[in-house]
Amino acid sequence: MDKRPKSKILDSSSKTKGRAFNSPAEASSNESQTKGLIKKITQKKEFSQLPKKDVELAFEKFDKDKYLDEEKVKLTRDLLRKVYSSFTSQKLLGIKDRDVKWVLNKHKSTKERLPYYDEVYARILNGLGTQGCTPKNIQENIFTKGKISVIDLGAGVNGFSYEYFKSRKINYVGVEAVGQLVELMNYFFKSKKIKARAFHLSLFEIDKVKELIKKQKKPRVVFLFKVIDSLEVLERNYSKKLLEEIAPLVDKVVLSFATHSLGKRAKFKVKRNWIIDFIKDNFFILDEFELGGEKYVVFQKK
Ligand SMILES: C[S@@+](CC[C@H](N)C(=O)[O-])C[C@H]1O[C@@H](n2cnc3c(N)ncnc32)[C@H](O)[C@@H]1O
Repeated sequence: MDKRPKSKILDSSSKTKGRAFNSPAEASSNESQTKGLIKKITQKKEFSQLPKKDVELAFEKFDKDKYLDEEKVKLTRDLLRKVYSSFTSQKLLGIKDRDVKWVLNKHKSTKERLPYYDEVYARILNGLGTQGCTPKNIQENIFTKGKISVIDLGAGVNGFSYEYFKSRKINYVGVEAVGQLVELMNYFFKSKKIKARAFHLSLFEIDKVKELIKKQKKPRVVFLFKVIDSLEVLERNYSKKLLEEIAPLVDKVVLSFATHSLGKRAKFKVKRNWIIDFIKDNFFILDEFELGGEKYVVFQKK
């Protein structure tokens, strides 16, 4: 059962879409006012290259009569910062030519994973986990030879970890909402002559994400590293929907989350039972492990 406290998730039931207007003129004036406020929100550099869909989803949370326009702008920006830019050093948004470790160290998630990349990639790509090889994988030997497509959803700057794939032949495709990070990864791939690409797309644009996955050669592995919390803030239960839609298209999904979170006074252990239970009920778990304060769950469709 999903025991997450409801109060922590912002209510998405009061969207303005269903709001009643007295006249078409009133509806149209509201629409242009909304457009103006969204434009204002994205004037800040850190939000200037976010997909429109994501900014609208965040804005809908606060587009209520009880808020003044300035409050709507501030609250939406605060939420967008929490979801998209709080892990990223602002230094990453401007510069291009930096070495791999410098970049990986400037993003909270990759910085924390840095000492463990070799172990993580060996375990999830070679099927070396305790239960990492299913009869199907062993028979086809798909994760030990030949090229593997990695589709990294909500990639941040994880494309910079390409060298940790070592000698494995990887076709890497990153999907990221922050346009500046997409540019940064693509610049890096091009300058290092790495055959990989990042795409500027929202994970809420599910059809586009599915199309992109279908275009990649098999076997396909999807990474969802430390992303589900961000999705849940904007739309509760969206992670479950996303998993249901993409798992049938791929050979493996690797989902991760931080096992500790910073509370008001101390670090506290995070369990995420709601997603683990959902995965157990709907998919076949291949491997589960924890490294560097990050829990990884590897699974495939039943
Ligand atoms: C905590 S970071 C994790 C980055 C990376 N997966 C890693 O673990 O190294 C979450 C990333 O997901 C991206 N993100 C959040 N919601 C997204 C969405 N709806 N579509 C695409 N990217 C999203 C954020 O911009 C951010 O870069």
